[in-house]
Amino acid sequence: MEDFVKIPRHVSIIMDGNGRWAKERGKDRVFGHFEGVESVRAVTEACVEWGIKYLSLFAFSEENWARPQAEVDTLMKLMGKCMEGEYEKFQKNGVRFVVLGNRDRLSDSLNTTIDRMMEATAGNSALTMILFLSYSGKWDIAQAARRMKAAGDDDIEKYLVTAGIPDPDLLIRTSGEQRLSNYMLWQCAYTEFVFTDTLWPDFRKEEFAGTIREYASRDRRFGKVK
Ligand code: IPE
Ligand code: IPE
Ligand code: MG
Repeated sequence: MEDFVKIPRHVSIIMDGNGRWAKERGKDRVFGHFEGVESVRAVTEACVEWGIKYLSLFAFSEENWARPQAEVDTLMKLMGKCMEGEYEKFQKNGVRFVVLGNRDRLSDSLNTTIDRMMEATAGNSALTMILFLSYSGKWDIAQAARRMKAAGDDDIEKYLVTAGIPDPDLLIRTSGEQRLSNYMLWQCAYTEFVFTDTLWPDFRKEEFAGTIREYASRDRRFGKVK
């Protein structure tokens, strides 16, 4: 059992490097996505074990729609299949499953699966697992501004898709890239970042634990003097 000094409430991960992982092995990019699912399982189980309350995962960006159609199709099929496949484990482990993003761009069948999963797991409370699908930070802020204006309101946070979810305490990005790629632009205002060269399919529990220890060593000041 891990004994962390300080546990983040909300950990978010930009799961990057699946394509390069596959390429290194002379395989098609989609094999990297398949293997990446194992890493998702590993970090989800770790969050439940360590008492992390929110885990959010950037799975597909608005910009990712511009990838080759075959890769997009495989990814979408994989998402639906994995959701169905994880159902029993979610119930057993008390995982509430949430999808956030531009749902209008998803297929009817995937939206049906998502709705079913979200409704069936809504009462679970050990961990909230958020999958960002067809999401971008600029899109989020724009849709929030439109809805806020229509409501004659002035509190934008209420209209972001993340309303009610605490901002991420820790954001991890794998594969050596050190950028946000249009992820949670508003919500990451005071998030701690950890970047690792490890490709997502190779990111497992031990390294995850290392990032939690790194987080615990950070001094978060939020602009104040301590
Ligand atoms: C992350 O891996 C998964 C998605 C963006 C869907 P990539 O597919 O971006 O893998 P690389 O970055 O090309 O290696
Ligand atoms: C960011 O990865 C999106 C996800 C991990 C879902 P990308 O691979 O799309 O980002 P860029 O293109 O390298 O910035
Ligand atoms: Mg990438």
